[in-house]
Amino acid sequence: MDIVRIGIIGVGGIANAAHIPAYLKNPHAQIVALCDIDVKRAETAKKKFFKDAAVYENYMDLLADESIDAVDICTPNYLHSEIAVEAFRAGKHVLCEKPDAISVDEAEKMYAASLEAGKILMVMRNNRFNLNSQYLKKFISKERMGDIYVARAVWRRRRGIPGKGGWFTTKAQSGGGPLIDLGVHMIDLAWWLMGCPEVEAVTGSTYSKFADNDAKDSPNADFGDRVENGTFDVEDLAIGTIRFRNGAVMQFEVSWASNIEKEERYVELYGTRAGAYWDGSRSVIFYEAPDGKQKSNTVNQNEIVTDHGHNIANFIDVIRDKAEPCYQPQQGIEMIKILSAIYTSAENGGKEVRF
Ligand SMILES: NC(=O)c1ccc[n+]([C@@H]2O[C@H](COP(=O)([O-])OP(=O)(O)OC[C@H]3O[C@@H](n4cnc5c(N)ncnc54)[C@H](O)[C@@H]3O)[C@@H](O)[C@H]2O)c1
Repeated sequence: MDIVRIGIIGVGGIANAAHIPAYLKNPHAQIVALCDIDVKRAETAKKKFFKDAAVYENYMDLLADESIDAVDICTPNYLHSEIAVEAFRAGKHVLCEKPDAISVDEAEKMYAASLEAGKILMVMRNNRFNLNSQYLKKFISKERMGDIYVARAVWRRRRGIPGKGGWFTTKAQSGGGPLIDLGVHMIDLAWWLMGCPEVEAVTGSTYSKFADNDAKDSPNADFGDRVENGTFDVEDLAIGTIRFRNGAVMQFEVSWASNIEKEERYVELYGTRAGAYWDGSRSVIFYEAPDGKQKSNTVNQNEIVTDHGHNIANFIDVIRDKAEPCYQPQQGIEMIKILSAIYTSAENGGKEVRF
């Protein structure tokens, strides 16, 4: 298959900011359909970019469209599993935005449906595709870091609550606050760089201290529509520890709002031969030279294609049988297990949850 025909379901913030620009640059993908319950959003994207695309208000109608090979799900989290399962039943490949689903059961259903249909399931892991992440992954695979025994995964904001009052801050629709929203990015990146070790136990604490605060200083707060006097029943900060069977440990901290100096997003890894720091725009390796001097080496890869663009290109190339997927659905299920166990720990006063 030279051209993969795609239908986008959910034409909101991330579809417009990252997915549509990526498809426009990909020579092997064609957007043939757009769907949104707010149909004007689908019509606007059609008018601007995809003149020949069909527009649907109901995703079941899009799934019945036989001209579509694959769907890209960019809806609120609670719809990911339901739409993916229906898409597999309709014989489509599926790329879905993160998080995979809002429960382990739902994530498992997506995977089972993909196996039954014999179609590809990939969930967005754009940070794995960041060129600085790819550099680190190669460096680690050559065993140049030695044994990685400590990791730290952080994305913390001063004031960056997305879509306050809307689906992002409504547990039944999002599955949670920054733990599921940002943890799925940063914990996954650190875990993947470590080689996806088996989890032994997790502990976590969550806090909700900014439900009455409407300030924002982060462009990330622009995702999702705000709703005046809407629901806010999720955490705004999560902090804790993940222990692995190989003896390694990961600390994580993710927040949408906190009284800190500035928004920060980073991963740190401590290995026996070298350490590493990643912040999206660079990777730094720390090591000891043969003469005993402490050295560092910074790699700063400029992105021409965005991280999301690389992820989308990987999905298209996997369908075309030209590439291996950089994500396995079993890893997605494990990630949702980890996040769910952290919520359970937090609900039980930070008590350790063993796997
Ligand atoms: N990977 C990333 O960097 C990143 C960044 C932001 C958001 N996301 C993820 O992308 C997804 C969407 O987030 P967003 O910020 O674009 O939210 P959004 O609210 O801006 O967009 C969601 C869109 O889905 C539409 N929608 C809702 N129900 C629908 C249905 N039943 N059928 C069709 N369309 C429906 C809404 O009308 C809206 O246009 C979420 O899962 C979020 O976690 C990922």
